[in-house]
Amino acid sequence: MKRQTIKSLLADYKKVLHHDITVQGWVRAFRSNRFIALNDGSTINNLQVVVDFESFDEETIKNIKTASSLKIVGEVVESQGAGQNIEIIAKKIEILGDNFSEDLEKTVLQPKKHSLEVLRDQAHLRFRTNLFSAVFRIRHAISFAIHKFFNDGEFFYIHTPLITGADAEGAGEMFSVTGFDLNEVPRTEDGSVDYESDFFGKKTSLTVSGQLNVETAMMGLGRVYTFGPTFRAENSNTTRHLAEFWMVEPEVAFNDLEDNIDLAEDFLKFVISYVLENCKDDLEFLDKRFAEEQKQKPEKDRAKEGLIEKLENVVKKRFMRVSYSEAIEILMNSKENKKGKFQFPVEAWGCDLQSEHERYLVEKHFESPVVLFDYPAEIKAFYMKLNEDGKTVRAMDVLFPGIGEIIGGSQREEKLSVLKAKMEKMKVDEHELWWYLDTRKFGSVPHSGFGLGLERLVLFITGMTNIRDVIPFPRTPKTAEF
Ligand code: 4AD
Ligand code: MG
Repeated sequence: MKRQTIKSLLADYKKVLHHDITVQGWVRAFRSNRFIALNDGSTINNLQVVVDFESFDEETIKNIKTASSLKIVGEVVESQGAGQNIEIIAKKIEILGDNFSEDLEKTVLQPKKHSLEVLRDQAHLRFRTNLFSAVFRIRHAISFAIHKFFNDGEFFYIHTPLITGADAEGAGEMFSVTGFDLNEVPRTEDGSVDYESDFFGKKTSLTVSGQLNVETAMMGLGRVYTFGPTFRAENSNTTRHLAEFWMVEPEVAFNDLEDNIDLAEDFLKFVISYVLENCKDDLEFLDKRFAEEQKQKPEKDRAKEGLIEKLENVVKKRFMRVSYSEAIEILMNSKENKKGKFQFPVEAWGCDLQSEHERYLVEKHFESPVVLFDYPAEIKAFYMKLNEDGKTVRAMDVLFPGIGEIIGGSQREEKLSVLKAKMEKMKVDEHELWWYLDTRKFGSVPHSGFGLGLERLVLFITGMTNIRDVIPFPRTPKTAEF
Protein backbone atom coordinates (compact mmCIF):
# COMPACT_ATOMS: atom_id res chain seq x y z
CA MET A 1 0.00 0.00 0.00
CA LYS A 2 1.45 3.36 -0.97
CA ARG A 3 1.83 6.03 1.68
CA GLN A 4 1.26 9.63 0.74
CA THR A 5 1.67 12.95 2.51
CA ILE A 6 -1.32 14.47 4.24
CA LYS A 7 -0.98 17.51 2.01
CA SER A 8 -1.34 15.54 -1.20
CA LEU A 9 -4.09 13.39 0.28
CA LEU A 10 -6.19 16.40 1.31
CA ALA A 11 -5.62 18.07 -2.05
CA ASP A 12 -6.54 15.04 -4.09
CA TYR A 13 -8.73 12.75 -2.00
CA LYS A 14 -11.40 11.91 -4.56
CA LYS A 15 -9.29 9.15 -6.13
CA VAL A 16 -9.00 7.29 -2.84
CA LEU A 17 -12.47 7.86 -1.44
CA HIS A 18 -13.73 4.56 0.08
CA HIS A 19 -10.33 2.96 -0.38
CA ASP A 20 -7.90 1.90 2.33
CA ILE A 21 -4.76 3.96 2.62
CA THR A 22 -1.75 4.18 4.93
CA VAL A 23 -0.80 7.44 6.61
CA GLN A 24 1.94 8.23 9.09
CA GLY A 25 2.28 11.24 11.32
CA TRP A 26 2.24 12.65 14.82
CA VAL A 27 -0.73 13.21 17.05
CA ARG A 28 -1.47 16.90 17.50
CA ALA A 29 -4.55 16.18 19.62
CA PHE A 30 -6.68 13.20 20.63
CA ARG A 31 -10.23 14.24 21.47
CA SER A 32 -12.77 12.15 23.38
CA ASN A 33 -10.63 9.02 22.84
CA ARG A 34 -12.11 9.03 19.36
CA PHE A 35 -10.73 11.77 17.08
CA ILE A 36 -7.04 12.01 16.29
CA ALA A 37 -5.73 15.16 14.65
CA LEU A 38 -2.79 13.74 12.72
CA ASN A 39 -0.06 15.93 11.22
CA ASP A 40 2.97 14.89 9.17
CA GLY A 41 4.53 18.31 8.59
CA SER A 42 3.59 18.50 4.92
CA THR A 43 0.84 21.05 5.62
CA ILE A 44 -0.62 23.07 8.46
CA ASN A 45 -3.85 21.08 8.06
CA ASN A 46 -4.40 18.00 10.19
CA LEU A 47 -5.98 14.80 9.00
CA GLN A 48 -8.84 13.60 11.17
CA VAL A 49 -8.63 9.94 12.07
CA VAL A 50 -11.67 8.34 13.68
CA VAL A 51 -10.90 5.59 16.16
CA ASP A 52 -13.75 3.24 16.85
CA PHE A 53 -13.37 2.28 20.49
CA GLU A 54 -14.58 -1.28 20.01
CA SER A 55 -12.11 -2.13 17.24
CA PHE A 56 -8.99 -1.53 19.37
CA ASP A 57 -7.66 -2.81 22.66
CA GLU A 58 -7.53 -0.48 25.65
CA GLU A 59 -3.72 -0.46 25.74
CA THR A 60 -3.47 0.97 22.22
CA ILE A 61 -6.00 3.70 22.96
CA LYS A 62 -4.19 4.55 26.20
CA ASN A 63 -0.87 4.95 24.42
CA ILE A 64 -2.14 7.41 21.87
CA LYS A 65 -0.98 10.70 23.34
CA THR A 66 -0.06 14.12 22.12
CA ALA A 67 3.16 13.81 20.04
CA SER A 68 2.79 10.04 19.52
CA SER A 69 4.00 8.84 16.14
CA LEU A 70 1.53 6.60 14.38
CA LYS A 71 1.13 4.44 11.33
CA ILE A 72 -2.49 4.11 10.44
CA VAL A 73 -4.29 2.02 7.87
CA GLY A 74 -7.87 3.03 7.31
CA GLU A 75 -10.66 3.85 4.93
CA VAL A 76 -11.04 7.30 3.46
CA VAL A 77 -14.62 8.56 3.92
CA GLU A 78 -16.39 11.85 3.51
CA SER A 79 -16.37 13.68 6.83
CA GLN A 80 -19.56 14.29 8.77
CA GLY A 81 -18.01 17.05 10.85
CA ALA A 82 -17.34 20.61 9.85
CA GLY A 83 -13.84 21.80 8.94
CA GLN A 84 -12.64 18.94 6.75
CA ASN A 85 -13.70 17.13 3.59
CA ILE A 86 -12.51 13.70 4.55
CA GLU A 87 -11.52 11.58 7.49
CA ILE A 88 -9.96 8.16 7.95
CA ILE A 89 -11.77 5.38 9.73
CA ALA A 90 -8.87 3.57 11.40
CA LYS A 91 -8.57 -0.19 10.86
CA LYS A 92 -5.01 -0.68 12.07
CA ILE A 93 -3.02 1.62 14.37
CA GLU A 94 0.66 1.08 15.05
CA ILE A 95 2.46 3.24 17.60
CA LEU A 96 5.94 3.72 16.19
CA GLY A 97 7.93 5.19 19.06
CA ASP A 98 7.81 5.83 22.77
CA ASN A 99 6.42 8.86 24.53
CA PHE A 100 7.90 9.48 27.95
CA SER A 101 4.96 11.13 29.66
CA GLU A 102 6.80 12.82 32.52
CA ASP A 103 9.30 14.44 30.17
CA LEU A 104 6.56 15.28 27.70
CA GLU A 105 4.79 17.36 30.31
CA LYS A 106 7.79 19.68 30.54
CA THR A 107 7.90 20.38 26.83
CA VAL A 108 6.27 22.80 24.42
CA LEU A 109 4.60 19.79 22.81
CA GLN A 110 1.86 20.13 25.42
CA PRO A 111 -1.17 21.41 23.51
CA LYS A 112 -1.50 24.85 25.09
CA LYS A 113 -0.18 28.33 24.35
CA HIS A 114 3.54 28.77 24.97
CA SER A 115 5.42 32.06 24.85
CA LEU A 116 7.89 32.57 22.01
CA GLU A 117 10.68 32.77 24.60
CA VAL A 118 9.85 29.33 25.97
CA LEU A 119 9.61 27.96 22.44
CA ARG A 120 13.05 29.41 21.70
CA ASP A 121 14.49 27.54 24.67
CA GLN A 122 13.17 24.36 23.07
CA ALA A 123 14.11 25.24 19.51
CA HIS A 124 14.63 21.54 18.75
CA LEU A 125 10.95 20.87 19.50
CA ARG A 126 9.32 24.00 18.14
CA PHE A 127 9.23 22.63 14.56
CA ARG A 128 6.38 20.50 15.85
CA THR A 129 4.07 23.45 16.56
CA ASN A 130 1.66 24.95 14.04
CA LEU A 131 3.40 28.30 14.19
CA PHE A 132 6.95 27.16 13.58
CA SER A 133 6.13 24.54 11.00
CA ALA A 134 4.33 27.30 9.06
CA VAL A 135 7.29 29.68 9.41
CA PHE A 136 9.79 27.08 8.23
CA ARG A 137 7.67 25.89 5.32
CA ILE A 138 7.52 29.52 4.21
CA ARG A 139 11.27 29.97 4.73
CA HIS A 140 11.72 27.02 2.39
CA ALA A 141 9.36 28.52 -0.21
CA ILE A 142 11.22 31.85 -0.04
CA SER A 143 14.56 30.11 -0.60
CA PHE A 144 13.16 28.16 -3.51
CA ALA A 145 11.64 31.31 -5.05
CA ILE A 146 15.00 33.07 -4.75
CA HIS A 147 16.71 30.37 -6.78
CA LYS A 148 13.82 30.36 -9.25
CA PHE A 149 14.00 34.12 -9.77
CA PHE A 150 17.69 33.99 -10.56
CA ASN A 151 17.54 30.83 -12.63
CA ASP A 152 14.69 32.30 -14.72
CA GLY A 153 16.75 35.48 -15.10
CA GLU A 154 19.80 33.58 -16.44
CA PHE A 155 21.94 34.02 -13.34
CA PHE A 156 24.47 31.42 -12.16
CA TYR A 157 24.66 30.27 -8.54
CA ILE A 158 28.23 30.56 -7.24
CA HIS A 159 29.29 28.95 -3.97
CA THR A 160 31.59 31.43 -2.27
CA PRO A 161 33.83 30.39 0.64
CA LEU A 162 32.87 30.81 4.28
CA ILE A 163 36.48 30.92 5.47
CA THR A 164 38.28 34.02 4.27
CA GLY A 165 41.25 36.27 4.78
CA ALA A 166 39.34 39.38 3.72
CA ASP A 167 37.02 41.71 5.62
CA ALA A 168 34.57 42.46 2.79
CA GLU A 169 32.70 45.19 4.63
CA GLY A 170 35.79 46.64 6.31
CA ALA A 171 33.92 46.87 9.60
CA GLY A 172 36.16 44.49 11.53
CA GLU A 173 33.25 42.44 12.84
CA MET A 174 34.63 38.99 12.12
CA PHE A 175 34.91 35.70 13.98
CA SER A 176 38.41 34.24 13.82
CA VAL A 177 39.01 30.79 12.40
CA THR A 178 42.06 29.07 13.78
CA GLY A 179 43.56 25.64 14.31
CA PHE A 180 45.61 26.88 17.27
CA ASP A 181 45.25 25.51 20.75
CA LEU A 182 44.17 28.77 22.36
CA ASN A 183 46.12 27.94 25.51
CA GLU A 184 49.34 27.77 23.56
CA VAL A 185 49.17 30.27 20.74
CA PRO A 186 52.52 30.46 18.93
CA ARG A 187 54.07 33.93 18.95
CA THR A 188 56.74 35.62 16.87
CA GLU A 189 59.80 37.23 18.36
CA ASP A 190 58.04 40.54 18.86
CA GLY A 191 55.22 38.84 20.80
CA SER A 192 52.45 39.03 18.19
CA VAL A 193 50.47 35.94 17.09
CA ASP A 194 52.41 33.83 14.59
CA TYR A 195 49.67 33.32 12.02
CA GLU A 196 52.14 31.80 9.58
CA SER A 197 52.20 28.66 11.69
CA ASP A 198 48.39 28.47 11.85
CA PHE A 199 46.33 26.01 9.72
CA PHE A 200 46.02 28.29 6.68
CA GLY A 201 49.36 30.00 7.18
CA LYS A 202 47.57 33.33 7.59
CA LYS A 203 44.94 35.09 9.68
CA THR A 204 41.50 33.82 8.67
CA SER A 205 37.89 34.51 9.66
CA LEU A 206 34.31 33.54 8.89
CA THR A 207 33.06 35.68 6.04
CA VAL A 208 30.76 38.69 6.52
CA SER A 209 29.74 38.62 2.85
CA GLY A 210 30.41 36.62 -0.30
CA GLN A 211 30.44 39.75 -2.44
CA LEU A 212 34.15 40.13 -3.18
CA ASN A 213 34.42 36.53 -4.35
CA VAL A 214 31.20 36.68 -6.35
CA GLU A 215 32.45 39.84 -8.10
CA THR A 216 35.34 37.81 -9.54
CA ALA A 217 32.83 35.24 -10.85
CA MET A 218 30.72 38.06 -12.33
CA MET A 219 33.76 39.04 -14.42
CA GLY A 220 33.50 35.72 -16.27
CA LEU A 221 29.87 34.67 -16.01
CA GLY A 222 28.11 38.02 -16.26
CA ARG A 223 25.13 37.49 -13.98
CA VAL A 224 25.81 35.60 -10.79
CA TYR A 225 24.60 35.27 -7.23
CA THR A 226 25.74 33.68 -4.02
CA PHE A 227 23.37 32.49 -1.30
CA GLY A 228 24.81 31.16 1.92
CA PRO A 229 25.55 31.73 5.58
CA THR A 230 27.38 34.88 6.67
CA PHE A 231 28.72 35.77 10.07
CA ARG A 232 28.96 39.02 12.02
CA ALA A 233 30.63 39.38 15.38
CA GLU A 234 28.78 42.61 16.13
CA ASN A 235 27.43 42.70 19.63
CA SER A 236 23.93 43.84 18.69
CA ASN A 237 21.28 42.20 20.75
CA THR A 238 18.30 43.35 18.70
CA THR A 239 15.28 41.69 17.12
CA ARG A 240 16.89 42.26 13.66
CA HIS A 241 20.44 40.96 14.13
CA LEU A 242 21.94 37.50 14.14
CA ALA A 243 25.59 36.48 14.46
CA GLU A 244 24.95 33.85 11.76
CA PHE A 245 22.46 34.65 9.01
CA TRP A 246 21.85 33.80 5.37
CA MET A 247 22.54 36.34 2.67
CA VAL A 248 21.58 36.42 -1.01
CA GLU A 249 24.00 38.46 -3.11
CA PRO A 250 23.51 38.97 -6.85
CA GLU A 251 26.20 40.74 -8.88
CA VAL A 252 25.60 41.89 -12.45
CA ALA A 253 28.10 43.05 -15.06
CA PHE A 254 27.15 46.28 -16.90
CA ASN A 255 24.38 47.18 -14.40
CA ASP A 256 24.35 50.71 -13.03
CA LEU A 257 22.70 51.84 -9.80
CA GLU A 258 19.28 52.29 -11.38
CA ASP A 259 19.40 48.80 -12.91
CA ASN A 260 20.41 47.53 -9.49
CA ILE A 261 17.42 49.17 -7.79
CA ASP A 262 15.10 47.79 -10.48
CA LEU A 263 16.55 44.32 -9.94
CA ALA A 264 16.09 44.55 -6.15
CA GLU A 265 12.48 45.70 -6.52
CA ASP A 266 11.60 43.00 -9.08
CA PHE A 267 13.32 40.38 -6.97
CA LEU A 268 11.49 41.21 -3.73
CA LYS A 269 8.15 41.40 -5.53
CA PHE A 270 8.71 38.08 -7.26
CA VAL A 271 9.55 36.27 -4.03
CA ILE A 272 6.61 37.79 -2.12
CA SER A 273 4.21 36.94 -4.99
CA TYR A 274 5.53 33.39 -5.07
CA VAL A 275 4.75 32.94 -1.39
CA LEU A 276 1.30 34.54 -1.80
CA GLU A 277 0.51 32.05 -4.53
CA ASN A 278 2.10 28.92 -3.10
CA CYS A 279 1.75 29.12 0.68
CA LYS A 280 -1.90 30.06 1.08
CA ASP A 281 -2.75 27.82 4.06
CA ASP A 282 0.30 28.81 6.06
CA LEU A 283 -0.16 32.49 5.24
CA GLU A 284 -3.81 32.39 6.28
CA PHE A 285 -2.79 30.86 9.58
CA LEU A 286 -0.14 33.55 10.10
CA ASP A 287 -2.56 36.25 8.98
CA LYS A 288 -4.99 35.24 11.76
CA ARG A 289 -2.19 35.11 14.29
CA PHE A 290 -1.03 38.56 13.19
CA ALA A 291 -4.56 39.95 13.59
CA GLU A 292 -4.80 38.44 17.11
CA GLU A 293 -1.46 40.02 18.01
CA GLN A 294 -2.63 43.44 16.85
CA LYS A 295 -5.67 43.21 19.13
CA GLN A 296 -3.36 42.87 22.14
CA LYS A 297 -1.63 46.14 21.28
CA PRO A 298 -2.70 49.68 22.18
CA GLU A 299 -4.73 51.20 19.34
CA LYS A 300 -1.98 53.58 18.19
CA ASP A 301 0.57 50.77 17.74
CA ARG A 302 -1.67 48.52 15.67
CA ALA A 303 -0.73 47.70 12.09
CA LYS A 304 -2.93 49.48 9.54
CA GLU A 305 -3.22 46.42 7.31
CA GLY A 306 -3.50 42.69 7.77
CA LEU A 307 -0.50 40.49 6.96
CA ILE A 308 -1.69 39.22 3.58
CA GLU A 309 -3.04 42.66 2.70
CA LYS A 310 0.38 44.15 3.53
CA LEU A 311 2.14 41.65 1.26
CA GLU A 312 -0.31 42.28 -1.59
CA ASN A 313 0.19 46.03 -1.27
CA VAL A 314 3.97 45.76 -1.38
CA VAL A 315 3.71 43.80 -4.61
CA LYS A 316 1.37 46.40 -6.12
CA LYS A 317 3.16 49.60 -5.13
CA ARG A 318 6.20 51.05 -6.83
CA PHE A 319 8.90 51.56 -4.20
CA MET A 320 9.71 55.21 -3.42
CA ARG A 321 13.20 56.21 -4.56
CA VAL A 322 14.73 58.94 -2.44
CA SER A 323 18.29 60.25 -2.15
CA TYR A 324 20.03 60.23 1.22
CA SER A 325 20.19 64.04 1.10
CA GLU A 326 16.42 64.35 0.61
CA ALA A 327 15.85 61.85 3.41
CA ILE A 328 18.04 63.85 5.80
CA GLU A 329 16.02 67.00 5.00
CA ILE A 330 12.78 65.15 5.72
CA LEU A 331 14.13 63.72 8.96
CA MET A 332 15.64 66.98 10.20
CA ASN A 333 12.36 68.80 9.60
CA SER A 334 10.18 66.07 11.06
CA LYS A 335 8.07 66.71 14.16
CA GLU A 336 9.70 63.68 15.77
CA ASN A 337 13.16 65.15 15.40
CA LYS A 338 12.13 68.63 16.52
CA LYS A 339 10.36 67.31 19.58
CA GLY A 340 13.34 65.14 20.51
CA LYS A 341 11.46 61.90 19.99
CA PHE A 342 14.30 60.12 18.20
CA GLN A 343 16.78 58.36 20.44
CA PHE A 344 19.45 59.53 17.97
CA PRO A 345 18.63 63.10 16.89
CA VAL A 346 19.28 63.86 13.21
CA GLU A 347 21.58 66.86 13.34
CA ALA A 348 23.42 67.19 10.06
CA TRP A 349 24.07 65.76 6.63
CA GLY A 350 26.57 62.92 6.91
CA CYS A 351 25.17 61.05 9.90
CA ASP A 352 24.39 57.36 9.62
CA LEU A 353 20.70 56.48 9.69
CA GLN A 354 19.43 54.44 12.62
CA SER A 355 16.64 51.95 12.38
CA GLU A 356 14.22 54.45 14.01
CA HIS A 357 14.93 56.93 11.18
CA GLU A 358 14.49 54.30 8.47
CA ARG A 359 11.21 53.22 9.97
CA TYR A 360 9.98 56.81 10.28
CA LEU A 361 10.56 57.31 6.56
CA VAL A 362 8.87 54.07 5.57
CA GLU A 363 6.04 53.82 8.08
CA LYS A 364 5.13 57.45 8.76
CA HIS A 365 6.40 59.69 5.98
CA PHE A 366 6.11 57.68 2.76
CA GLU A 367 3.94 54.78 3.93
CA SER A 368 5.66 52.63 1.32
CA PRO A 369 8.88 50.67 0.89
CA VAL A 370 11.66 53.17 0.24
CA VAL A 371 14.94 52.87 -1.62
CA LEU A 372 17.52 55.36 -0.34
CA PHE A 373 20.49 56.05 -2.58
CA ASP A 374 23.63 58.22 -2.88
CA TYR A 375 24.84 57.97 0.70
CA PRO A 376 27.87 59.84 2.11
CA ALA A 377 31.03 57.94 1.18
CA GLU A 378 32.28 57.98 4.79
CA ILE A 379 29.50 55.81 6.17
CA LYS A 380 29.59 53.15 3.43
CA ALA A 381 31.98 50.37 2.39
CA PHE A 382 35.17 50.99 0.39
CA TYR A 383 34.03 49.24 -2.82
CA MET A 384 31.11 51.57 -3.63
CA LYS A 385 31.35 53.83 -6.67
CA LEU A 386 32.21 57.44 -5.93
CA ASN A 387 29.85 60.00 -7.44
CA GLU A 388 31.09 63.03 -9.34
CA ASP A 389 30.45 65.24 -6.30
CA GLY A 390 33.37 63.40 -4.66
CA LYS A 391 31.49 63.00 -1.38
CA THR A 392 28.65 60.55 -2.01
CA VAL A 393 28.68 56.97 -3.31
CA ARG A 394 26.28 55.04 -5.53
CA ALA A 395 24.88 53.08 -2.60
CA MET A 396 21.30 51.89 -2.16
CA ASP A 397 19.42 50.53 0.83
CA VAL A 398 15.92 49.09 0.52
CA LEU A 399 13.86 49.89 3.61
CA PHE A 400 10.74 47.91 4.52
CA PRO A 401 7.92 48.65 6.96
CA GLY A 402 8.42 47.02 10.33
CA ILE A 403 11.92 45.93 9.36
CA GLY A 404 14.05 48.90 8.29
CA GLU A 405 16.96 47.87 6.04
CA ILE A 406 16.23 44.64 4.21
CA ILE A 407 18.70 45.06 1.32
CA GLY A 408 22.00 46.90 1.08
CA GLY A 409 23.89 47.28 -2.18
CA SER A 410 25.62 49.56 -4.64
CA GLN A 411 27.16 50.18 -7.99
CA ARG A 412 30.82 49.21 -7.52
CA GLU A 413 33.87 51.39 -8.07
CA GLU A 414 35.32 50.04 -11.30
CA LYS A 415 38.28 52.43 -11.56
CA LEU A 416 41.41 50.90 -10.09
CA SER A 417 43.00 54.19 -9.05
CA VAL A 418 39.89 55.49 -7.27
CA LEU A 419 39.36 52.13 -5.56
CA LYS A 420 42.96 52.01 -4.37
CA ALA A 421 42.76 55.54 -3.00
CA LYS A 422 39.54 54.67 -1.15
CA MET A 423 41.12 51.53 0.32
CA GLU A 424 44.08 53.48 1.56
CA LYS A 425 41.87 56.10 3.14
CA MET A 426 39.65 53.49 4.79
CA LYS A 427 42.61 51.34 5.88
CA VAL A 428 41.64 48.28 3.85
CA ASP A 429 44.68 46.06 3.27
CA GLU A 430 45.55 46.18 -0.44
CA HIS A 431 47.86 43.16 -0.23
CA GLU A 432 45.19 40.93 1.24
CA LEU A 433 42.85 41.90 -1.64
CA TRP A 434 45.34 41.70 -4.55
CA TRP A 435 43.05 39.22 -6.31
CA TYR A 436 40.03 41.52 -5.94
CA LEU A 437 41.98 44.41 -7.45
CA ASP A 438 42.68 42.23 -10.51
CA THR A 439 38.95 42.52 -11.41
CA ARG A 440 39.65 46.22 -12.03
CA LYS A 441 42.78 45.57 -14.09
CA PHE A 442 41.62 43.29 -16.88
CA GLY A 443 38.49 44.38 -18.68
CA SER A 444 36.97 46.19 -15.70
CA VAL A 445 33.28 47.02 -16.25
CA PRO A 446 30.58 49.03 -14.55
CA HIS A 447 28.74 46.57 -12.32
CA SER A 448 26.37 46.45 -9.39
CA GLY A 449 24.96 44.12 -6.79
CA PHE A 450 23.26 43.91 -3.45
CA GLY A 451 22.75 41.74 -0.39
CA LEU A 452 19.42 40.63 1.02
CA GLY A 453 19.30 39.34 4.59
CA LEU A 454 17.14 36.23 4.16
CA GLU A 455 15.84 36.27 7.73
CA ARG A 456 14.68 39.88 7.45
CA LEU A 457 12.57 38.92 4.44
CA VAL A 458 11.21 35.88 6.30
CA LEU A 459 10.31 38.20 9.20
CA PHE A 460 8.46 40.53 6.87
CA ILE A 461 6.55 37.80 5.07
CA THR A 462 5.56 35.78 8.14
CA GLY A 463 4.72 38.78 10.35
CA MET A 464 6.99 37.43 13.09
CA THR A 465 8.75 40.13 15.10
CA ASN A 466 11.95 38.54 16.41
CA ILE A 467 14.61 37.35 13.98
CA ARG A 468 15.40 34.47 16.37
CA ASP A 469 12.04 32.97 15.43
CA VAL A 470 12.63 32.68 11.69
CA ILE A 471 15.92 30.75 11.65
CA PRO A 472 15.90 27.18 12.96
CA PHE A 473 18.75 27.59 15.45
CA PRO A 474 19.61 31.23 16.13
CA ARG A 475 23.15 32.31 16.99
CA THR A 476 23.24 35.58 18.93
CA PRO A 477 25.51 37.02 21.64
CA LYS A 478 25.75 34.45 24.44
CA THR A 479 23.56 31.86 22.67
CA ALA A 480 24.70 28.98 20.53
CA GLU A 481 22.60 26.17 22.02
CA PHE A 482 21.61 23.20 19.87
O1 4AD B 1 24.24 45.93 4.16
P1 4AD B 1 25.12 44.74 4.29
O2 4AD B 1 26.15 44.76 5.35
O3 4AD B 1 25.76 44.54 2.85
C1 4AD B 1 26.73 43.65 2.48
O4 4AD B 1 27.20 42.79 3.19
C2 4AD B 1 27.10 43.76 1.03
N1 4AD B 1 28.38 43.05 0.82
C3 4AD B 1 25.99 43.19 0.18
C4 4AD B 1 26.27 43.32 -1.30
O5 4AD B 1 26.24 44.40 -1.83
N2 4AD B 1 26.55 42.21 -1.97
O6 4AD B 1 24.21 43.44 4.49
C5 4AD B 1 23.22 43.10 3.56
C6 4AD B 1 21.94 42.73 4.25
C7 4AD B 1 21.33 43.83 5.11
O7 4AD B 1 20.58 44.72 4.32
C8 4AD B 1 20.47 43.02 6.06
O8 4AD B 1 19.24 42.65 5.45
C9 4AD B 1 21.29 41.78 6.26
O9 4AD B 1 22.17 41.67 5.17
N3 4AD B 1 22.06 41.81 7.51
C10 4AD B 1 21.76 41.10 8.60
N4 4AD B 1 20.75 40.25 8.86
C11 4AD B 1 20.72 39.67 10.07
N5 4AD B 1 21.65 39.88 11.04
C12 4AD B 1 22.68 40.73 10.83
N6 4AD B 1 23.59 40.91 11.78
C13 4AD B 1 22.76 41.39 9.56
N7 4AD B 1 23.64 42.27 9.02
C14 4AD B 1 23.19 42.50 7.77
MG1 MG C 1 23.86 47.71 5.10
